[in-house]
Amino acid sequence: MYKHYTITDIHTHVLPNLDDGPENMEETEHLLTAMHAVGVDRIFCTSHYLSPSFEVSLQQMTSAYDLLQSTPQKSAWPALQLGAEMRVHLQQLERLKDSDWPRLGDTHYILLELPNLGLAQTTLQFVKRVTSAGLHPIIAHPERLVELQKSFDLVDQLLATGASFQLTASCFIPSAKADRPVNRLAWTLLETGYASVIASDSHNTNARPPALVAAYQGIEERFGEKAVIQLIENANKIWQDDEISRVAVR
Ligand SMILES: [Fe+2]
Repeated sequence: MYKHYTITDIHTHVLPNLDDGPENMEETEHLLTAMHAVGVDRIFCTSHYLSPSFEVSLQQMTSAYDLLQSTPQKSAWPALQLGAEMRVHLQQLERLKDSDWPRLGDTHYILLELPNLGLAQTTLQFVKRVTSAGLHPIIAHPERLVELQKSFDLVDQLLATGASFQLTASCFIPSAKADRPVNRLAWTLLETGYASVIASDSHNTNARPPALVAAYQGIEERFGEKAVIQLIENANKIWQDDEISRVAVR
């Protein structure tokens, strides 16, 4: 459907046996092949990093990524770059230097996961610190933040840090329930011009599938092709380390 455009997915869990993504190489191959089949050309591999739920080191991510890059079948997969979804876990981050924060490839973009509950001032200060370090923080799935679902005013506080928002593709596919708070907030953030990019956050081919292209179709039905093209171009700009701006759907 968008075959004239290069499709980039900036948030995926494809590296084997690290987090709640694929459990082994076979599942990884299955997921990457499925992504390619639906038209995804390029992905950042963004396993969880500093998440309280998983212990994943940067060395493990690099080894898993190198393994994929050395696999002969990679011609049937999207092009890969290594990134990470770094949890804003302040106690853990205290032990790291700024230069140790994993970025999306060699770009100045960094994908941050905020705690779902407790959007504390210290969290906002950390996001500002990332911006001050010359990096561009991208907040993964802000629609999941319970405080944002309750109080839209916090959106401005969060964006005042210099961050951009990445919404999750599954919120925009036709089968997504419109009355779920997560989906409702995702549509509202897009409609009000607060979002910059959409990504699949895919973990597997069933429960959390590579739904990026399907989401673009859902968005096109509601807001037209122009909105989708801006989203596609922003994901490509991130890949190329160019500056992005928020998407105006109206
Ligand atoms: Fe994720």
